[in-house]
Amino acid sequence: MQFTKVCVIGLGYIGLPTASTFATHGLNVVGVDNNLHVVTTLRNGGIHIKEPGLQMLVQQALDSGQLRVSESPEAADAYIIAVPTPFHDDELGKYNGQFYRLADMRAVISASESIVPYLQKGNLVILESTSPPRTTIDLVRPILERSGLISGSDFYLAYSPERVLPGQIIRELTENARVIGGIDRTSAEAGRDLYAHFVKGEIVLTDATTAEMVKLMENTYRDINIAIANEFSRLADRFGVDVWEAIKIANRHPRVKILNPGPGVGGHCISVDPWFLVEAAPDLTELISTARRVNDSQPHFVFELVQATLGNDLTGKHVTALGLAFKPDVDDLRESPAIEVVKLLTQSGAVVCGYEPYKTDAVIPNVRIATTLEDAIEDAELLLLLVGHRELRDLDPKRVSELTPTRLLVDAVGSWDNQAWSQAGFKLIRLGNGNA
Ligand SMILES: NC(=O)c1ccc[n+]([C@@H]2O[C@H](COP(=O)([O-])OP(=O)(O)OC[C@H]3O[C@@H](n4cnc5c(N)ncnc54)[C@H](O)[C@@H]3O)[C@@H](O)[C@H]2O)c1
Repeated sequence: MQFTKVCVIGLGYIGLPTASTFATHGLNVVGVDNNLHVVTTLRNGGIHIKEPGLQMLVQQALDSGQLRVSESPEAADAYIIAVPTPFHDDELGKYNGQFYRLADMRAVISASESIVPYLQKGNLVILESTSPPRTTIDLVRPILERSGLISGSDFYLAYSPERVLPGQIIRELTENARVIGGIDRTSAEAGRDLYAHFVKGEIVLTDATTAEMVKLMENTYRDINIAIANEFSRLADRFGVDVWEAIKIANRHPRVKILNPGPGVGGHCISVDPWFLVEAAPDLTELISTARRVNDSQPHFVFELVQATLGNDLTGKHVTALGLAFKPDVDDLRESPAIEVVKLLTQSGAVVCGYEPYKTDAVIPNVRIATTLEDAIEDAELLLLLVGHRELRDLDPKRVSELTPTRLLVDAVGSWDNQAWSQAGFKLIRLGNGNA
């Protein structure tokens, strides 16, 4: 199938690189976002998110004249929906006395509705947003068919999950294998013809619901594996074992690959997506929901480490949180467990200063955000490492000792070397090192 014009709805971490990459590969692209700030920023030559290489890619796409940005869709050959699918903040489901999160599909609904007036015979619509099983068939299809056109015969419809790693989005977008699940074979093939403009990785065709499940299974698998690592860290603390050493030794087994523990699981994907399976079938997802609860409760264990170091009463104690993002070397604070730790600290009366090198304008209630490391640590009583950003991992203990009066460190991500910090006079407590 031939495509000349693509409309990408949602210009965030996924939609903006996708729209720009289609444009730099010769397609005529309209990038649509209903957030005026996003549209204005892009029109003024800026970008509203941090991702290595993205500014240059967007600039190249805009300069070529192949990418335009707009607040509303327009007629095109293909539409890609890449809008957020978070969970509801204020609504919960309940099964067998346990609560679970509910997917907030309002953006997918409104993005699908926004396409309806423009949909024409022969068009292709692809949903990229991570979604509960059967969303393409049961939610998106009926909305699009309000156009009077029938999916499968008049237009093509497919689901294609995005699996890029924040921080490496530009490279992975083209190099990763891509799954395309059609509501029928022709729709999947149409999707393949579209993405083949830039995807160098393998393109695997399947049906829409399988593709939805694949994405959710991938992230759920990661979540469960992190949960077991976190639970191991709790056991290690109880039994006076260093979990990092134990994991390293266990991983010498040829069929064992235990992940690292940390302050929890965050971001837009792994901490959210497993709930989509729980919501879809609460009676079948006991392990998945338990793993979610284990990871969601992990910030509390980091908080307890701070108490174990500074004393139970944290009132008025100055704690500097180093790193606030949900993972290393990104600016994304969504669902960040580091922020959950910080919240627990402020609630207990601690005076918290946060330093996030990738987002120095972060806003967190009751937390002073420092713009430099020096400012962040100058009056700290404890330095709490919450994210293994390169800049923080590589801190020189000697230099830090000259910038701060404290000699107490809590490392929740296993990034600091005990020997190096001890030599500079610090006492380092690591999550799961048996010291709690
Ligand atoms: N960020 C990631 O690394 C990642 C990876 C894989 C999958 N995903 C999935 O991709 C989807 C998009 O995620 P994201 O990180 O790009 O989100 P994002 O929040 O960065 O961007 C989404 C954009 O969509 C816009 N938007 C919302 N509703 C709209 C509408 N009706 N019309 C037009 N624009 C609209 C928002 O203003 C926003 O700019 C989600 O389902 C997410 O789970 C994300």
